[in-house]
Amino acid sequence: MKNILITGGAGFIGSHVVRLFVNKYPHYKIINLDKLTYAGNLANLKDIENKPNYEFVKADIVDEDTLMAIFDAYRFEGVIHLAAESHVDRSISNPKEFIMTNIVGTVNLLNAARSIWKENYSGKRFYHISTDEVYGSLGDEGKFLETTPYDPRSPYSASKASSDHLVRAYNHTFGLPVVISNCSNNYGPFQFPEKLVPLCINNIRHNRTLPVYGEGSNIRDWLYVEDHAKAIDLIFHSGGDGETYNIGGNNEWTNLNLVRKLCEIMDRKLGREAGSSEKLITFVKDRAGHDFRYAIDSTKLQNELGWRPEAKFDEGFEKTIEWYLSNQTWLDDVTSGNYTRYYDGMYKNR
Ligand code: NAD
Ligand code: DAU
Repeated sequence: MKNILITGGAGFIGSHVVRLFVNKYPHYKIINLDKLTYAGNLANLKDIENKPNYEFVKADIVDEDTLMAIFDAYRFEGVIHLAAESHVDRSISNPKEFIMTNIVGTVNLLNAARSIWKENYSGKRFYHISTDEVYGSLGDEGKFLETTPYDPRSPYSASKASSDHLVRAYNHTFGLPVVISNCSNNYGPFQFPEKLVPLCINNIRHNRTLPVYGEGSNIRDWLYVEDHAKAIDLIFHSGGDGETYNIGGNNEWTNLNLVRKLCEIMDRKLGREAGSSEKLITFVKDRAGHDFRYAIDSTKLQNELGWRPEAKFDEGFEKTIEWYLSNQTWLDDVTSGNYTRYYDGMYKNR
């Protein structure tokens, strides 16, 4: 069995990637390494946790010695690196955490991979998962290409850009076999309800206001999370060494229109009078340095590897809302802090 490391597998996107790999590749042993921060939740993986080709390891990628010992023990043949501090607003209030995990943590992983692979790189791959935010902010026209110059503008995107540069530098300088992808905004089940979509679903449920930053005119390109996971599978297995691939939904929405659509579906699903959730929309102070527009051109991935987003937005969005409404205990647990207390107790002595 090949040992494949997935970092951040207890988070939103990571849990979908772990599930896909565990179910699709029984001849891989998938090791999910996660610190279980507030955003990491093993409940996201209940359905596969007892599979023989899955193992969870609680560790912090900033802890170099522990990481090195784990690499020594498992001799991974592939690394898919998703662990990160991922919320832009948190990076504005606490940038340092982002520098530590996203930059130092990534360098620790690169060093650990280098150290066990010892320049015998045949069949090895280090896959770094990144974001469209590294390219900066667009005006009304144009899309990000893989060749668009980097222009990160928040501590989060600056930390991701820095990690991307380091991954490329390890490829160029040490020959480490790497691949990188930069994806647009994901939506789907298991996203922590600090991000726009699950936050609004949760707030509508409780009849709380829906905080829309500024005038709600900022634009994001939304992709169903399982389509991102499928792209990651494809790039991990078929992407070119040292290459970068953009992944996007070709599906742009202003924040206000997205929230309005969400309100309309929620009213229908909750049996509320049409228009009642929209009344909860409240325009609040804008995010500092708020990027206006992101849009991804994924032609390279489509032409070279044959990827296409499969989920139709209307269906994926409706399915996502349905999932949160059918999993209200999950929402209650992650918003009440019950699950962090549970993990603190469970792993205290390990
Ligand atoms: P998330 O915040 O939901 O999950 C991050 C996971 O990383 C959590 O399980 C957390 O416990 C773990 N983690 C954090 N710090 C760690 C550390 N020091 N050591 C070990 N584990 C740690 O994030 P997400 O939205 O699933 O994003 C995953 C990756 O995809 C990130 O690298 C992010 O930059 C990238 N990305 C996200 C999106 C998006 O729309 N969410 C889009 C493009 C790219
Ligand atoms: O583009 C990819 C990125 O998408 C990922 O790299 C990040 O990890 C991920 O968090 C996401 O970043 P955004 O900042 O775009 O996502 P968020 O859900 O925080 O916000 C989406 C948009 O909605 C953004 O323009 C800010 C706005 N917003 C957000 C929140 C939380 C609001 O108007 N109100 C809110 O309460």
